[in-house]
Amino acid sequence: MTAQDFILKSYHTNFETGSVKWASPSNIALVKYWGKKKDQIPENPSISFTLSNCKTITEVTYTKKEDKEFSFDVYFEGEKNEAFKPKIQTFFERIETYMPFLRDYHFKIDTSNTFPHSSGIASSASGMSAIALCLMSIEDKLNTVERSSDINYFNQKASFLARLGSGSACRSIEGELVVWGENESIADSSDLFGVKFEGDVHSNFKNYQDTILLVDKGEKQVSSTVGHQLMYGHPFAQERFKQAHDNLANLKTILASGNLNEFVKIVESEALTLHAMMMTSMPYFILMKPNTLEIINKIWAFRAKTDSKVCFTLDAGANVHVLYPESETEIVLEFIKNELVSYCQNEHYICDQIGLGANQI
Ligand code: PMV
Repeated sequence: MTAQDFILKSYHTNFETGSVKWASPSNIALVKYWGKKKDQIPENPSISFTLSNCKTITEVTYTKKEDKEFSFDVYFEGEKNEAFKPKIQTFFERIETYMPFLRDYHFKIDTSNTFPHSSGIASSASGMSAIALCLMSIEDKLNTVERSSDINYFNQKASFLARLGSGSACRSIEGELVVWGENESIADSSDLFGVKFEGDVHSNFKNYQDTILLVDKGEKQVSSTVGHQLMYGHPFAQERFKQAHDNLANLKTILASGNLNEFVKIVESEALTLHAMMMTSMPYFILMKPNTLEIINKIWAFRAKTDSKVCFTLDAGANVHVLYPESETEIVLEFIKNELVSYCQNEHYICDQIGLGANQI
């Protein structure tokens, strides 16, 4: 597949109006994407667990219009929202080559999250993938070219579009594990879109749990966009990109064998390496908070005194994703309640688990 294959070649505008609705989840990377080239092409491959409960639900209503300007309104949780508009305007500009009908309709975009807005959980992955899926459903109605009717094209293009909205959003279309970025060990992996991980996955990873500890619900001081840019000319960038390739190849073997000790090593090392890249950028910055480190130390102490396989990962922020096998749910939740919630803002945490991907409503 090349980007050219995603250009909608011919379409009608016979539909005056209509609406489509999707729920799309967030995802948490195990091997992290950090650093990108032009057009949101990743510098290294990544793999993520798709989540189940943390979702964005978006309804797009389209109404035909005469002029050829972009026209859309955004509603967030029922209220008109001007703050989201510039991001969507940029998104439309980036994808219009692939979806020429965007100028033929006015769009009302109605969106809400299942997780609290001010939780510090990034909604860009679920939000951008939900819009991309809605636009794909509209494209499906307007398309006049016979397609080999495969769901693959729909998902691949949805992921391709979501990537242009926010890189990691391309991993939110499907579940349970999604790879984005070319890697020798993963057949069909692509820089252009996420692909479902088709390798063997041991039953140890079935319904893997992710409890998100909300350490800091505030706005981040440094955005992901700026963080990615700081990987240009970063002294350790090339080694890091190579390491991500190796970690992904090794993780593939671990997912098949079910070796949780090895899983923990790669996942925690990836999280700390991501933050080490931030700390060694110029300018340097730190997104972890003191409570992030308190939680990490508590998790390590808990593992040392029990034979639990609980581990942590981080995204570009202070919150901690606590990952553990379903069989440990009871003991780990007990541990979280007794020893970790006091480090969360307002004792707030969200229980989630590995999920199957987006669905149309
Ligand atoms: O998709 P972005 O541009 O917000 O970047 C996200 C990067 C990380 O969350 C830190 C890692 C990842 O692979 O999701």
